[in-house]
Amino acid sequence: MKKILVTGGAGYIGSHTVVDLIEHGYEVISVDNYCRSDARMLLGIEAITGKKITNYAIDLCSLTDTRKVFEENPDLVGIIHFAAYKAVGESVEQPLLYFENNLQSLINLLKCVQEFRIPNFVFSSSCTVYGEPEKIPVTEATPLQPATSPYGLTKQTGEQMLEAFVKTNSCSVLLLRYFNPAGAHPTAQIGELPIGRPQNLVPAITQTAIGVIDHLQVHGTDYSTRDGSCIRDFIHVCDLAQAHTQGIQLLEKEGTSNHCKPINLGSGTGMTVLECIHAFEKVSGAKLNWSVGPRRPGDVIAIYANNEKAKTLLGWEARYGIDDIMATAWAWEQRYRSGQTVLGS
Ligand code: NAD
Ligand code: WQD
Repeated sequence: MKKILVTGGAGYIGSHTVVDLIEHGYEVISVDNYCRSDARMLLGIEAITGKKITNYAIDLCSLTDTRKVFEENPDLVGIIHFAAYKAVGESVEQPLLYFENNLQSLINLLKCVQEFRIPNFVFSSSCTVYGEPEKIPVTEATPLQPATSPYGLTKQTGEQMLEAFVKTNSCSVLLLRYFNPAGAHPTAQIGELPIGRPQNLVPAITQTAIGVIDHLQVHGTDYSTRDGSCIRDFIHVCDLAQAHTQGIQLLEKEGTSNHCKPINLGSGTGMTVLECIHAFEKVSGAKLNWSVGPRRPGDVIAIYANNEKAKTLLGWEARYGIDDIMATAWAWEQRYRSGQTVLGS
């Protein structure tokens, strides 16, 4: 069995990807120190796959600890690197925390890639690298805008570091630029577990509906869009997970090529915030308590992906739409809150 190292395997996208990799015949080891996740998420993965997950609960910012993982696993065919901090607002408050965690972890991993000659590397990037684009949908050739947050800067810098790294190292890299990941595994055993009050729209909707937060504020309906609210490209986390498996398969098939390719991972469809609320109310039958508030500083007005490159290169296509995203996110929220998942509540 081919062995993949997933960093951030207990996190939201990492956990769904571990499931998908196992279902496609890979052996997976994870590195996650649970600094932004719940260790019990691994139980959810085990409940779905029937496989025990090996996780190294080490900090990737320690080179010594990171090297040990590679020493114990000399047969890795690839790495999928999810582990990072991702809260935009927190990064504005504490930029050094973000530079250190997101960039030091990447540097340490790349030192190990070099030393242990790991041929394939997949990097979690983000549509945040495009900023407020002049034209939508955005392709991978759309010019990147200056980062609007220290978090965004770590993604742009990470991409640039990898582009430079492959020039002199026998390693192939994919830079996967996620749009707005949302939804949960159809079994409702794993899903998104935001820390504190959710900043992202879909968990804010489901937590409002279940009563964890009392109401959803829509951040502005005075934008120049079809209903005045912002436009985003929501992509189901299981579609995202599958793209990572297909990414690893592509890298393996191509052989080491010293390439560093950016690929957009979005549905290709823009949805407004109000359309998302309506989709949620339709699939859940629940009436959401929401009101219109002021614009959120730093919000991009409208962005969605041109995903032709993902289709052509990876043979990838989104299987789930906005209704599936809302239905699975809602099922997860309900099961988790009522203590019906293996995680408890
Ligand atoms: P997450 O916070 O759920 O998962 C990240 C995991 O990495 C957590 O389990 C955390 O404990 C772990 N981690 C962080 N720093 C670590 C360190 N130094 N050592 C060991 N473990 C560490 O986040 P996610 O939503 O699954 O995102 C995964 C990746 O995708 C991140 O790189 C994020 O920036 C990127 N991304 C996320 C989104 C999104 O909206 N969720 C969008 C675009 C890009
Ligand atoms: C979507 C829309 C909000 C919550 C963020 C990061 C980005 C990337 C994806 C990592 C916006 C509106 C939200 C609420 C609302 N992450 N909204 N009320 O801003 O597109 O991107 O996640 O790389 O870097 O910035 O996602 O889910 O926060 O917001 O009205 O309570 O929903 O204003 O228009 P965003 P989001």
